[in-house]
Amino acid sequence: MDLSFVNQKVLVVGGAGFVGSNLCKLLLKDYEPAEVLVIDNLLSAESCNVPIDDRVNFICGSISDDKVLDKIPDDINYVFHLACYHGNQSSIEDPLADHENNTLTSLKLFNRLYRYSGIKKVVYAAAGCAVAEKTYDTASATAEDAPVSLFHDSPYSISKLIGEMYGNYFFKLHKLPFVKARFQNVYGPGEILGAGLWRGTRHTVWRNVTPTFIWKSLHNEALPLDNGGIATRDFIYVEDMARGLIACALKGDPGETYNLATGVETSIWDLANTINSYTGNEAGISVEKPRDWDNSGKRFGTTEKSEAQLGFRAQVSIQDGIKATVEWTRNNQEKIASTMEKHVHFLPEVTKYL
Ligand SMILES: NC(=O)c1ccc[n+]([C@@H]2O[C@H](COP(=O)([O-])OP(=O)(O)OC[C@H]3O[C@@H](n4cnc5c(N)ncnc54)[C@H](O)[C@@H]3O)[C@@H](O)[C@H]2O)c1
Repeated sequence: MDLSFVNQKVLVVGGAGFVGSNLCKLLLKDYEPAEVLVIDNLLSAESCNVPIDDRVNFICGSISDDKVLDKIPDDINYVFHLACYHGNQSSIEDPLADHENNTLTSLKLFNRLYRYSGIKKVVYAAAGCAVAEKTYDTASATAEDAPVSLFHDSPYSISKLIGEMYGNYFFKLHKLPFVKARFQNVYGPGEILGAGLWRGTRHTVWRNVTPTFIWKSLHNEALPLDNGGIATRDFIYVEDMARGLIACALKGDPGETYNLATGVETSIWDLANTINSYTGNEAGISVEKPRDWDNSGKRFGTTEKSEAQLGFRAQVSIQDGIKATVEWTRNNQEKIASTMEKHVHFLPEVTKYL
């Protein structure tokens, strides 16, 4: 049976976030849903990211709160679960907050959803980093069936895997139509530095490498390359990610895992130089020591299964994606600076951008 979003009710948990808000926008633009219900507690997001549209309803609250769970209508058709405690460093700082917003969230949501008979698919944002091999030698692409270690660098990584396991459990026992979308490193417009509440570390503001480098590059700062920038990642543009999530919902088989990856390995060194070439930053790069918690090294994902079974292939090259993200950042500098400003008390270094 061909699935579609036309006249369907879609729940996006974490829909105010970076990926979630881009997903909502694409659903509304191209897929004619009857309703997009966003549930988000704005822990790492700004409400301005929730699209203004008659078909959007926004519940501001935590999905681990029973009163919020009670508000999910029982005729919901599709669910995307993108909520997490962002990110690795914050989870190391506060593992219990991570548990509350990254583990309990998944358990409570799935435990509620399996009773709803009209659900066609539940898509979970799984993390490629939680299954990738830890190597600084030559990396091989991580496949969907790669072995999973019992040793992890962060509570975040553990929580993302537990989410997969709980979903698998509800699929096997209760036939919850659960699909895992394993993300590689997403970048693109809509990732607001400093979005949400202070989460105990400077990474509340400096969320991920790409938006951080773009911001610093636009401010003529040398880009700091931890461990000399030798680590590699598979950078996927957020619009490709949104298309991949939609493909998981419409074409993914319940119980299955699909990588949403480009299959292209890019070093942090190359990322920094690409960004500097688009901004004209003459300060270049600065070589730093390795981060003490980070053993992630080199990694990228396989693309064959998603291409064969979902018809999904990332379309945006790193050059085009970075160019568009630099442009978006330039055009939204005021908004981003005002979001960073919320954390100035905890992170005085942001004063120089205000
Ligand atoms: N961005 C990436 O590179 C990447 C890589 C691997 C996996 N992922 C996963 O993709 C998902 C989206 O990531 P993102 O980059 O958009 O991050 P994000 O921080 O922008 O989005 C997460 C959203 O979850 C919300 N949230 C947190 N706790 C919640 C709760 N208790 N109830 C409801 N909402 C809650 C946050 O406010 C935020 O809007 C996450 O699950 C993340 O683990 C992302």
